[in-house]
Amino acid sequence: MTQDELKQAVAHAAIRYVVDGEIVGVGTGSTANFFIDALGEIRHRIKGAVASSEATAARLAARGVPVFDLNEIDQIPVYIDGADEIDHSGAMIKGGGGALTREKIVASVAEKFICIADQSKLVDVLGKYPLPVEVIPMATSSVTRALRALGADPVLRMRDGAPYVTDNQGYILDLNGLQIHDPKALEQQINQLPGVVSVGLFALKGAAVCLLGTEQGVRAIEY
Ligand code: A5P
Repeated sequence: MTQDELKQAVAHAAIRYVVDGEIVGVGTGSTANFFIDALGEIRHRIKGAVASSEATAARLAARGVPVFDLNEIDQIPVYIDGADEIDHSGAMIKGGGGALTREKIVASVAEKFICIADQSKLVDVLGKYPLPVEVIPMATSSVTRALRALGADPVLRMRDGAPYVTDNQGYILDLNGLQIHDPKALEQQINQLPGVVSVGLFALKGAAVCLLGTEQGVRAIEY
């Protein structure tokens, strides 16, 4: 099976976690895109969705799924999204697509985070994938220095020769070469640096379930 076929399989498997008549939180990225396509097919069963990025909102709308502003919603039963890495405790690195802040906000309102990932994303120790940190642009240098003092190697994410700009007008520092043995502690440590908007570590609130796409089929791992 190709990686896309594995992503498609987990995206379809996630449909059974969607609660009829409710609003579903929807992530960002290639796996989430397959989920949005599957959600479009059952759109009449749900009230609508809350999106974690402008790109996701546009894709949901194109498939006829009503998109709600998070401010209109008190709570959602599930948030469904991919990950760049997930460990055996359900802690994740996210934000490869740059949507980490809104992903974390929408996930925080959900009862359960359902992670959908192909088997390449499961790791023993997080950190091989660069850890994204969204920053307020004026704090790029000060946060870079603070992250270096923590032993990280931050690189400003670029696109077309200029800093990559998020949906929130922030910049992203990607931290290379980490071995994250205590993801909850690192999430707290980075969160409290002045100028950091959010860090792409999802450990304090990790996945409740991971639907992992493998050659043998979709494996549901509960945490
Ligand atoms: C988007 O900002 C990310 O958090 C994605 O959820 C993550 O990068 C996984 O993306 P893919 O499904 O494209 O691998």
